Amino acid sequence: MSFLSLFRKKPLGTILQQGGDGEHSGLNKVLNVKDLTFFGIAAIIGGGTFSAIGNACFSGGPGVILLYVMCAIACGFTAMCYAEFASRVPVSGSAYTYAYVSFGEIFAWIIGWALLMEYSIGNIYIAFSWSGYFTNLLETFGIHLPEWLTINYKSAHAAFIESKAGEGMLAWQNAPVVGGLRIIFDAPAVLINVLITYLIYRGTKESKNISNIMVYIKLIIIVLVIVVGAFYIDIDNWTPFMPNGFGGVMAGVSAVFFAYIGFDAVSTLAEESENPQRDLPRGMIYSLIICTIVYIILAMVLTGMVKYDLLGVSDPLAEIFAIKGIKWMLFIVSIAAVVAMTSVMLVFQMGQPRIWMTMSRDGLMPKKFAEIHPKYKTPGFASIVTGLVVGIPIFFTDENFVLDFTSIGTLFAFVLVCGGVLMLSPQSEAELAERATKGKFRIPYVNSKFIFPLIVISTAVLVNFYVPDFFGNVFDLSAENLAANLPMLAFFILTIVMSVLAFTKNLSLIPLLGLVSCCYLLTGMAVSNWKWFGIWLLVGLVVYFTYGFRNSKLIKK
Ligand code: ALA
Repeated sequence: MSFLSLFRKKPLGTILQQGGDGEHSGLNKVLNVKDLTFFGIAAIIGGGTFSAIGNACFSGGPGVILLYVMCAIACGFTAMCYAEFASRVPVSGSAYTYAYVSFGEIFAWIIGWALLMEYSIGNIYIAFSWSGYFTNLLETFGIHLPEWLTINYKSAHAAFIESKAGEGMLAWQNAPVVGGLRIIFDAPAVLINVLITYLIYRGTKESKNISNIMVYIKLIIIVLVIVVGAFYIDIDNWTPFMPNGFGGVMAGVSAVFFAYIGFDAVSTLAEESENPQRDLPRGMIYSLIICTIVYIILAMVLTGMVKYDLLGVSDPLAEIFAIKGIKWMLFIVSIAAVVAMTSVMLVFQMGQPRIWMTMSRDGLMPKKFAEIHPKYKTPGFASIVTGLVVGIPIFFTDENFVLDFTSIGTLFAFVLVCGGVLMLSPQSEAELAERATKGKFRIPYVNSKFIFPLIVISTAVLVNFYVPDFFGNVFDLSAENLAANLPMLAFFILTIVMSVLAFTKNLSLIPLLGLVSCCYLLTGMAVSNWKWFGIWLLVGLVVYFTYGFRNSKLIKK
């Protein structure tokens, strides 16, 4: 087998035959554009909004609003790229399938591996956040769970090592000891994972109905938070706008980006959609627009109600009302948080098995992952494995690690999707006309030849004007700063290369801006995140070369 077989591409025709027409997939085609939009919202508003936003505001101050706008722009361009692919490749598998068509097998595998972080590792963070709010809720009913059942082992151990008083220390001190090992785990997080796994195993229709109800509850309560909170805004809290500078704002990138993840999960439901080529793009874009509006208003309310340095907690939406002494809102927010996060987990946990199912059909994963349950019509085995992949690490990891890990992996996948659209072969006039008549989405083509280099030059001039020492700091190649500056230096090189390509190859502007803006967000990730991400990718490559490469369906042809 040659080196080139790593880049073998899956022909579109084969993909469509495998399930794109819906005749062969065996899944129920029950979802319309409203359901898909709701699925998007269900996946987007969750742990990032109710939990991670707190630390982002703490480090960035009111300036975090800028980060919400930046992430919305990057996700907006990426959503259009997803939509372009979803309209051309209407089968399950999300970015994985798209990469298989445009980049070749090795990239498809890498992206599938990265998506595992988005859908499964992301759910670990949400399960922890869910548990925090659920425990608050139980407390309001007078039910107190012992600390060793509401915190993960790693956090309790860290609290003990740092002699930090609080929940972690209490858990460490009071935990039962069996065979010399302290029994400490987050029981509500485990419980919600078991329930969600059961639900997705049982079927899409049931999950869809529950998800729609949860989205209604979530949106109504978030509007209530905004309306009630607006009465308590003190505009003095918005100054200083960036108390820790732009660096402080960018420190929240994992958290804010995490809040946007989810619109792409809609694309994993292609085979369950009534009209995927028309409805998937709409579902993705509508849900992203609605959530962006909600986030920007919510960030303004949050940073306007109290000073930013009071927001560094894991339940900031409850905290602001606690500070203002509005008890009834505390209760309502806790219910909304539990509902919101349940719906996110549901969508993510539905997405993961569908990606595995597609990879298995391609021979890159064992056959069992593609098995459809005869009665429930769901990928049963893959659903159970997903439950284990989320459930087992709950015992060993903590929320900060999984948050960073999820965001870096997802951004990486987004970069490949935008790059993939740039590499798609142009369609003929007849194909374009056919798409237009059937209402299928098409990404508008704007020639980037002059516009992109112009955007790059004017941004550099503006940055140099407003932050005069920016470029000096980035080009500081001294031993102690080199590692921290490497991502930004790599970004500069990428921008120059893309400017040249835009000029010489007349690249399409929207995917190009998507690629560059996602790469920019990646520069905000800490060096330690890059290290773990690199290790994760290496493990993925070992798995690919020992299994997928040899079993790929494309070889046997
Ligand atoms: N956007 C999803 C959330 O915030 C992942 O929970």
